[in-house]
Amino acid sequence: MKIIRSVDEMTRWARECRGRREKLALVPTMGYFHEGHLSLMRLGGERADRLVVSLFVNPTQFGPGEDLDTYPRDFDRDRQLAEGEGVDVLFAPTPEEIYPDGFQTRVAVSGLTDHLCGADRPGHFAGVTTVVCKLFNIVRPHCAVFGEKDFQQLAVIRRMVRDLNMDVEIIGHPIVRESDGLAMSSRNAYLASEDRESALSLSRAIARARQLVAGGLTDAGLLQEEITTFILSHPVTTIDYVTLVDCRTLEPVSRIDDHTLLALAVRIRDRVRLIDNGMLVES
Ligand code: PAJ
Repeated sequence: MKIIRSVDEMTRWARECRGRREKLALVPTMGYFHEGHLSLMRLGGERADRLVVSLFVNPTQFGPGEDLDTYPRDFDRDRQLAEGEGVDVLFAPTPEEIYPDGFQTRVAVSGLTDHLCGADRPGHFAGVTTVVCKLFNIVRPHCAVFGEKDFQQLAVIRRMVRDLNMDVEIIGHPIVRESDGLAMSSRNAYLASEDRESALSLSRAIARARQLVAGGLTDAGLLQEEITTFILSHPVTTIDYVTLVDCRTLEPVSRIDDHTLLALAVRIRDRVRLIDNGMLVES
């Protein structure tokens, strides 16, 4: 596996692949790999001849007071895990390489970013779309894989690609969970073992919501109240949002139907922010 740190070298390598008519897949990440990331890599590897994984803790998607400085990092472990998945290139640039002096451009999707994490984390998605757009221009992949764990991020990226006519196929991957149901996340490393039960309130809330909907509940307001009470019955939890949205528009809904997604953001001890989501009517 090749490790590339410079944008120029990455561009050159990718251009050579395309010259040989090889199909390229990109999996963008911020590292501290877990089985979720590795599953995305496997899917990318199946869909292309060459697989590039980017590892870049993108400063522009973190707000003031967020965890940019403490975000978990372990390059050697990540390198070994990526190598084990048959990754061809681990692209790990420095912030200066991605945002050199004088950088002044932003790519931002509106509308879709008004709700959920977009409302809670101003500027976050503009940071994501700007860096993903840059990665697409540097690597020019045929396809790129993103996880449904960050459902809104996936929707925003699909929108950017459509709106700006980017020639890249976006592939979504289902949420990968621990055996107890907790959605895998690099930020789970922040959880103390005694807070695990509280962290499980998210996946359990989704299961509970599905049961209530299967039992005939269709009023989104009532379900939102039930789920809020359920999550808050776990110690040390606070809620950023419990929202029922249409999975196509991310607009809040009042009645539950086949397109309704339950999206959750919950803090544990005010410090660790966890997100999860699930469709309420399983197809
Ligand atoms: P990061 O949080 O490292 O996630 C990288 C990719 O892994 C994203 O597409 C995310 O949705 C996916 N992922 C994370 N946990 C997952 C899980 N449990 N199951 C399935 N997929 C999962 O998301 C980012 O980085 C950044 O915002 C990025 C897109 C790289 C831009 O900086």
